[in-house]
Amino acid sequence: MALHRLQAIRVGVTDPVAQAGFYGEMGLTTSDGSLFDSPDGGTQIHVSESPFRRLLSVELGVDSESDLDEIAGRLAALGARHTKSSGELVCVEPHTRIEFRVRPLPRLRQTATSAVPLNAPGSSPRIDRRSSGVFPGARSPRRLGHIVVATPSWRETRAYLLDGLGFKVSDEFTDLITFLRCSTDHHNIALVGGEVPFLQHCSWECDDVDHVGHLATKLLAADADRHTWGFGRHFIGSNFMWYLRDPSGSFVEFYSDMDRIENDAEWENVGRTAVALENVGLAWGPSMPMEFIVPKDIDVLKAGWASHT
Ligand SMILES: [Fe+2]
Repeated sequence: MALHRLQAIRVGVTDPVAQAGFYGEMGLTTSDGSLFDSPDGGTQIHVSESPFRRLLSVELGVDSESDLDEIAGRLAALGARHTKSSGELVCVEPHTRIEFRVRPLPRLRQTATSAVPLNAPGSSPRIDRRSSGVFPGARSPRRLGHIVVATPSWRETRAYLLDGLGFKVSDEFTDLITFLRCSTDHHNIALVGGEVPFLQHCSWECDDVDHVGHLATKLLAADADRHTWGFGRHFIGSNFMWYLRDPSGSFVEFYSDMDRIENDAEWENVGRTAVALENVGLAWGPSMPMEFIVPKDIDVLKAGWASHT
């Protein structure tokens, strides 16, 4: 695979100051209030002012300049417009208007943290000690893991990402949702159908379930209305999850323990399981809220896109 990482996204929001404040509460760092860094991923969020919330661009990493040539060749074969200069390929997916910027980047390297030993029947690695998971531990997530994007042309956007940019399908429920990867993460971009394009959620990797819990709890202590969906475990991707609403109206997920795919054939033969409607959501946890399917601001988004085009 030429692609190997989701590096960053640029979000357009009506209130960049409020959005910046939220990312600061998450623990992301910034020097200018518009670019936000995670500990493992470097700069991962660009915040811009926009008349309505939208995903403006996505930055992806490849290994080399020749990988850019490969992508340019596939886009040309599709008749998709793109520009390629030394060190960067830029193209716009026509149905979501998302700009993709692809350039050679180092592969993601992450160091392991010491895991919290979990006691269980017949296995008690933690004896005569409290679990470190009970002590205050709110801290920044490690990195941006994936985004979920709504598109009014699910099949066409899916084809653009697969046949043009070179994503791979990890799981999908046709015409409803597809989970695409450009790294060893189970998914880096998922596509859902929507009347207009919008960023449904962005998702941030945490060390473990306690990291997820402490971070979400800290943000909910400041504003309980942020809670959207969770705590639970997804069936697709297997990850623990907890979703909050950010000031723009997009959701933010904190996750841990996602499926990792290193061997495509092994995943297809052994890992991948059939996706039915009943397990598109969670393996266990609360029911999916309606606003997760139709956002509360859908009329604002529709009006925004109508005035934009
Ligand atoms: Fe997610």
